[in-house]
Amino acid sequence: MAVPESLRQSLENAGQAHVLNLVNTLNDAKLALLIEQLEGLDLGAMQSLIDTYVKSAPQFEMPASTEPPTYYPADPNSSVRSYDAAKYISSGEDLLRAGKVACFTVAGGQGSRLGYDGPKGCFPAGAISGKPLFQIFAEGIKATGDKYGSVVPWLVMTSPQNHEATVAFFKDHNYFGLNADDVMFFPQGTMPSFDLETGRILMSDAYTLAASPDGHGGSLKALYTSGAIDAMKARGVEHISYFQVDNPLVRVADPLFLGLHATADDSSAQMSSKMLPKAYAEEKVGLFAKIDGRTQVVEYSDMPMELQRETNPDGSLKFLAGNPAVHAFSVDFVEKVNTDPAFSLPYHRAVKKIAHINTDTGEQVTPEEPNGVKLERFVFDALPFAEKSIILETSRVQEFAPIKNASGIDSAESSSKLQTERAASWLSANGVKVPTNSEGSPDCVLEICPATALDASDLRGKDLPSEIAPGQKLAL
Ligand code: UD1
Repeated sequence: MAVPESLRQSLENAGQAHVLNLVNTLNDAKLALLIEQLEGLDLGAMQSLIDTYVKSAPQFEMPASTEPPTYYPADPNSSVRSYDAAKYISSGEDLLRAGKVACFTVAGGQGSRLGYDGPKGCFPAGAISGKPLFQIFAEGIKATGDKYGSVVPWLVMTSPQNHEATVAFFKDHNYFGLNADDVMFFPQGTMPSFDLETGRILMSDAYTLAASPDGHGGSLKALYTSGAIDAMKARGVEHISYFQVDNPLVRVADPLFLGLHATADDSSAQMSSKMLPKAYAEEKVGLFAKIDGRTQVVEYSDMPMELQRETNPDGSLKFLAGNPAVHAFSVDFVEKVNTDPAFSLPYHRAVKKIAHINTDTGEQVTPEEPNGVKLERFVFDALPFAEKSIILETSRVQEFAPIKNASGIDSAESSSKLQTERAASWLSANGVKVPTNSEGSPDCVLEICPATALDASDLRGKDLPSEIAPGQKLAL
């Protein structure tokens, strides 16, 4: 077996011929694997990609026209903007009843901050039950289908690195009560990593490019190329409810959000978002903004700090709308962006320490300092391609308890506290007395699984205790 001459030539032209340096050491099977990876690269565009993102760091210029976005407040009777929530809930429920909604979880990330050995969705997240994230979502999806008498299919994007382990986890757990035909897995694409100095592709061994998942923005392409979009169309699905793998409190398919997305006058029903009010000016979350009339998310590192600190006359932050990474998009929108030659998401660069081999000698290199560039695409960069895009405010306690870190902020521990707080608010709303500590937080550990209730009103009429004892652990 030999490297095809045309491939060798394209690599030369792209300044990447070094990846073939060690081919003489490879058997046919390994060489075939290397050729397959190389043929998957867009070598024609490689040089300009490297010039733009590796050899230089693109600077984001925030246009002077940047304004805070308008959004639907969590309180539909708010004086800022009132709206008929019941009407939109009802249109969202109609979509669910008609089987026109699928859920979509992006689970291809490497979860390196959590330090968990396995796909992040397998991480035990339930405050008491220790149920894995995937199980919590599965129960929410099943309960939603049962509530509306329909089936809500579930799309799970994996990465080539965690695909098999993810699928095996579902099989081992009998798809957590879902029908296997209603769960579809597909891996996202990858991007090679580049040497920071030279722009050359790094190799992790003589036949493997050092590569990583291409960011959650890769989901828009992967949805299309995997056949998931065609499969959804065949089922009559029109809208996709998108969420990340790290948030056990996410509402997997929120009727109000879906109703606003699909039917509000100021929505084109293409791509919509939820927002979380920032807790404080310096909080590191992406921020929604309106630029040239289009909704966009600006990375916190790209927005000048003085602007992030700017306040309204009432003292509230001017740029308040943080990004909890919950979106809805239509099947048509995903199809459109995949067939429109003008559509392309930018890359974002991350400079990292990337282990690799010296392609002259085959020796392993373990860098002490950041030596390479990883490139990712972000799904929210598709927002400006939607003609009109709505944002719905949501509450941290009700819907956002991500597990990203091994300890501290956004850890299993902070998530467990938030799960308890939400459960306490639902139980209190249903007349259950919940003990509090001196700080006013619940003095107990609570977990309400989605199979029991998707929101506070689902607890009505359920067999609930009249009160919780201090220090009690209660899973419902
Ligand atoms: C993300 C958002 C941030 C938001 C926060 C809310 C970005 C750049 N930032 O931060 O604005 O406030 O969530 O929780 O997204 N994933 C893939 N494939 C990939 C990369 C990631 O599927 O190639 C998935 C992960 O599995 C995870 C999600 O995307 O579900 C988020 O990824 P991560 O890179 O951890 O983003 P955050 O830093 O958490």
